[in-house]
Amino acid sequence: MKVLLLGASGATGRLVVTQLIQKKIAVKIVIREQSKIPVAFVDNKDIEILRGEIDKFDSQQVRGLIADCDAVVSCLGHNLSLKGMFGPPHRLVSHFVERVTEAANSYPIPKRLILMSTTAYTNAPLGETNSFKDKLILSLLRLLLPPHRDNMIAGDHLLNTLGPGSSVEWVAVRPDTLIDLNEVSEYDLYETRQRNPISDAGKTSRINVAHFMLELLTEEEIWQEWRYKTPVIYNRE
Ligand SMILES: NC(=O)c1ccc[n+]([C@@H]2O[C@H](COP(=O)([O-])OP(=O)(O)OC[C@H]3O[C@@H](n4cnc5c(N)ncnc54)[C@H](OP(=O)(O)O)[C@@H]3O)[C@@H](O)[C@H]2O)c1
Repeated sequence: MKVLLLGASGATGRLVVTQLIQKKIAVKIVIREQSKIPVAFVDNKDIEILRGEIDKFDSQQVRGLIADCDAVVSCLGHNLSLKGMFGPPHRLVSHFVERVTEAANSYPIPKRLILMSTTAYTNAPLGETNSFKDKLILSLLRLLLPPHRDNMIAGDHLLNTLGPGSSVEWVAVRPDTLIDLNEVSEYDLYETRQRNPISDAGKTSRINVAHFMLELLTEEEIWQEWRYKTPVIYNRE
């Protein structure tokens, strides 16, 4: 198996890469010229490192990227700086998701995609709702915060545009507030949100997100259980 991973220099992405190489799974990463990755990645023969601006890749280039990969993981996210939040590319995550799913469609053998999403994404077809106040807050965030809008569009593309049964199999993993822990700990997975992401957010450690993504990639039963779904992941309290 070979996995294409975007966001490998990020806090969660690098944990996914680390867990993949511990399992001797080949990884291809695309990072920016200035991105920093652990030295251990550079020296690891299981990691193919490409440098480039993923938002400038067209569908044809993305098609080339995934040609030798069975699965794609996006841990992309906008940097928490003024430039990262409000500067281009505003559609970093959603454009990548759109291009990769379009490109994957042209392969006869189904490719799999895991998106790092968020509990702020509402899975309406599953019956998730928001109170009037929360709807207002989420609408304002969508209007004013390009990264939030980007994550919502990416989720909508998988859930509503592709939907269940699409030839590209996908899972949108929804962590709550991200925290950093050194070790994998117990966590719970749910089809729908169990807590209010605005007024009662839970915690999810990045290492647990990485662990669940690895399980999705390597355990067929787990993939079959969660494909075409938007699992919510919380650390067990
Ligand atoms: N914060 C939370 O509580 C929370 C909760 C749920 C979900 N999420 C979502 O989870 C995702 C990942 O979170 P994280 O904390 O692991 O993110 P992170 O550490 O900020 O990593 C973001 C990754 O995206 C890359 N990136 C940023 N801008 C880019 C660009 N213009 N072109 C190419 N790559 C770019 C970064 O590369 P560089 O190293 O080059 O900058 C980095 O690899 C985000 O989408 C976030 O919205 C966050």
